[in-house]
Amino acid sequence: MPRRKKVSDLGGVQAVRWQDDACMLLDQRRLPEEEHYLRLEDSTSVAQAISDMVVRGAPAIGIAAAYGVALAVRESATGDQADLQSRLDRLAAARPTASNLVWAIRRVSAAMDRDGRDRFDAALAEARAIHNEDIAMNLTMGELGAELIAGPCSVVTHCNAGALATGGFGTALGVVRCGWARGKIQRVFAGETRPWQQGSRLTCWELARDEIPVTLLVDSAMAQLFRREHPQWLIVGADRVTANGDVATKIGTYSLAVLARQHGGRVMVVAPTSTLDVSTPDGDSVPIEHRSGDEIWAISGQPAGINGVAVDNPVFDITPAACVDALVTERGVIQHPDFEKISKLFSRDV
Ligand code: MRU
Repeated sequence: MPRRKKVSDLGGVQAVRWQDDACMLLDQRRLPEEEHYLRLEDSTSVAQAISDMVVRGAPAIGIAAAYGVALAVRESATGDQADLQSRLDRLAAARPTASNLVWAIRRVSAAMDRDGRDRFDAALAEARAIHNEDIAMNLTMGELGAELIAGPCSVVTHCNAGALATGGFGTALGVVRCGWARGKIQRVFAGETRPWQQGSRLTCWELARDEIPVTLLVDSAMAQLFRREHPQWLIVGADRVTANGDVATKIGTYSLAVLARQHGGRVMVVAPTSTLDVSTPDGDSVPIEHRSGDEIWAISGQPAGINGVAVDNPVFDITPAACVDALVTERGVIQHPDFEKISKLFSRDV
């Protein structure tokens, strides 16, 4: 049995940081082969990096965009409001599904308009606050989620909702880290997550660094895993949770949620309130990103594709609220989320 590290020693990797007046992004396309940071000095490059998956995962996208707003303010220092707005629009359009992106841009914009001080300083301070709060929320959610786990057990996760997808520590992997440190989780099963392979390239890399036992499976092996191993929880992050509790997250999550429930497992969604979007009524209203079919051909080893074959590549799906046993937020856990419970969470003064 491997020695268990303390929570404070887990999940140290940084996907985003502000350094020497620039936004530094760990290029996640190159992991796990190499840890290479890109230095981005303008908002257009940040928008492009988000579209190109240099940085990915809902909270990390929001944090990168927040620093992008600070860069946009610096570029538009002449005070040209139309120019600034077009830079912000470009950031907001970088990816459509994760609510954290627009949430962060709005929050930083409001702060720089509100504060009497220099707009760049105000924007950067707010971006830093978003970043630090995200890490703190993940630590809180990690503990709250781990309390729900009756150990010792195995769990399944999908995609990457770890330190790489957030300001640090992770949402779903934050719960995994706390559950492991408390001796409740014995093993994590991770699906590879086609076509970008966030599961095999990123989640397995993060867990291996922390010496948390992880077994990688192809996505299509999960039904058999649930039938044979009966993992206790499916633990995932989210890109957007709608007013009624539907969850938009990585493609393939819905099938895993159905499988978990079919085999006596439970479904835990771990998401900060920056991912909850009460202005989107339900899952059917979420803009689902469809990426280029080339991504699927590339992973099939046929980069040029096959003439005459159409490809559909939706990268998120909707898990209906009825399939969610627990929604873990930094403000508390909602069992079986629905419209009333989510409204109540937002009506609390925090
Ligand atoms: O396409 P990606 O890699 O940005 O998708 C990320 C996910 O689906 C994550 O699971 C989600 O953002 C939760 S992040 C803590």
